[in-house]
Amino acid sequence: MNKWIFLLAILTGIILFILIISLPRKKNERVASIEGIDDLEVAKAFEKMTNFFPFKILRRRILSELKYYELNGSLVDVGCGSGNLVVQIAHKFKDLDIIAIDISKEILNLAIQRAAKNHLSEKIKFKIGDVDNVPLNDKSVDFIISSLSLHHWNNPKLAFNEFFRVLKDDGIILIFDFRRNSRKFFYGLLTFATKIVVPDALKKINEPLGSLKAGYTAEEVKAMFTDLNVNDYEFKSYLAWMFIAIKKP
Ligand SMILES: C[S@@+](CC[C@H](N)C(=O)[O-])C[C@H]1O[C@@H](n2cnc3c(N)ncnc32)[C@H](O)[C@@H]1O
Repeated sequence: MNKWIFLLAILTGIILFILIISLPRKKNERVASIEGIDDLEVAKAFEKMTNFFPFKILRRRILSELKYYELNGSLVDVGCGSGNLVVQIAHKFKDLDIIAIDISKEILNLAIQRAAKNHLSEKIKFKIGDVDNVPLNDKSVDFIISSLSLHHWNNPKLAFNEFFRVLKDDGIILIFDFRRNSRKFFYGLLTFATKIVVPDALKKINEPLGSLKAGYTAEEVKAMFTDLNVNDYEFKSYLAWMFIAIKKP
């Protein structure tokens, strides 16, 4: 590589790093966003956005986090959206029984199509369902996973109680989501994406910025778990998102 391009790349990296670290964290109040994606245009626009580079990085992070768990038996992806993550999980963990649930039939159809293209129609079962009333039997599942969906739920405490109902006794929940108190740099990036980059259908509903503003902070999630009497969990905070692993109490 040309020496000057290399130096420019290093310099850009340093400037970005300084910008990210020097801009403080946001301290805004939570603003709820839409619950399900129940419009075909929004679903298609969302599907397009999940192919953007930052979403690919997030999925890579999630998949690498999964290696710390012995994933076997059954796994449910709640709020599976257009199925990007669940399809990758199905490719990676061939012995898992997989169910993917979403409240929106428009986006679930896109996930079904994605599974078909990947020859996974037999392997992944799709169900319309709400996290408040999960369409599964008591103690029937080993793992529940959810990415970028928690901030959409109307009543997360009810949802977690539902997850505990359907989980087997040693079951585990793995949640990945935005954290609202991200650095201002990330708010700047998502403001730019929402105003300029994403398809019009998402601009109209102020996404993805709306999702960041609807996210929770670590303190809020921990307070929720205290109310639910959940003590056995691991919490990791990253630049703009958080990861929580919860053992069924
Ligand atoms: C931002 S998308 C994330 C999709 C996917 N998990 C991903 O990471 O690409 C959030 C998804 O959660 C779904 N969702 C929102 N509220 C829900 C609820 N109460 N029950 C089930 N799914 C819900 C939405 O319909 C949407 O597909």
